[in-house]
Amino acid sequence: MTRPTAIVIGVGPDRGLGAQLCHRFSKEGLHVLLAGRSQDKLDAVVAAIERDGGSAEAAVCDATSEDDTRALFDRAGDGLALAIYNAGNNTPGRIADMEADYFEQSWRVCCFGGFLFGREAVRRMVPGGGGTLLFTGASASLRGRSHFGAFNSSKAALRTLAQAMAKEYAADGVHVGHVVVDGAIGGEKIQKGFPAYAEKLGEDGMLSIEGIVDGYVFLYRQPPRAWTFEIDVRTSKENW
Ligand SMILES: NC(=O)c1ccc[n+]([C@@H]2O[C@H](COP(=O)([O-])OP(=O)(O)OC[C@H]3O[C@@H](n4cnc5c(N)ncnc54)[C@H](OP(=O)(O)O)[C@@H]3O)[C@@H](O)[C@H]2O)c1
Repeated sequence: MTRPTAIVIGVGPDRGLGAQLCHRFSKEGLHVLLAGRSQDKLDAVVAAIERDGGSAEAAVCDATSEDDTRALFDRAGDGLALAIYNAGNNTPGRIADMEADYFEQSWRVCCFGGFLFGREAVRRMVPGGGGTLLFTGASASLRGRSHFGAFNSSKAALRTLAQAMAKEYAADGVHVGHVVVDGAIGGEKIQKGFPAYAEKLGEDGMLSIEGIVDGYVFLYRQPPRAWTFEIDVRTSKENW
């Protein structure tokens, strides 16, 4: 029997949320088409999934490109059960000092790419009888914060896009969900990229990737008579 397919865009290092979503959904029995901009990182994740007996393939894709996004979904073909938009980069900076294209690029990755991805997903899922479409959010999705206006505004826009799509396509069998990741993830991005910050937070102060991934699986498994739009996850130490 052919496995249903999951597309996950925004896959980087193996100890990152995107890669671990791929690992878990492969264990859930899906063939995973994983996408990001770096072939070497994607290949490493595919190799690790295959070592564990799973099925995966990599596609280099820029989430902000309409052509790339369309080609990604064409490659997935029939049997698309799950699509996850995980791309998103934090873009700090004060508004008064900010270049217009810096702001625009933040919006392109965190919001516009979500539109391109979500649109291709529903174009396939609706005629196919339904599916699950999930978006990764952040604390930024729910509140503005000094020095983070570009990131906050684009993540908040992604959230309302997701909510609109949830209402627009529910009757067609597409379950759209949004996951608010409220805090720093205990993965490679923070641990390698911001080691002093990671040390200050300590392991208990950073979100467990496995715990976050559990939330996506929960949403994916929900029956149509009990759908959740949004879940939020944070550590017990988070001051919110
Ligand atoms: N890290 C955190 O602490 C944190 C906290 C809250 C929320 N989040 C959210 O969680 C999600 C995952 O973030 P993460 O930091 O943990 O990283 P991750 O899941 O380990 O990897 C995400 C990967 O997406 C890829 N990417 C970035 N821009 C892209 C684009 N335009 N097209 C395709 N792929 C792109 C990058 O890899 P390449 O550069 O190789 O393409 C990046 O490594 C993001 O939506 C982020 O906003 C993260």
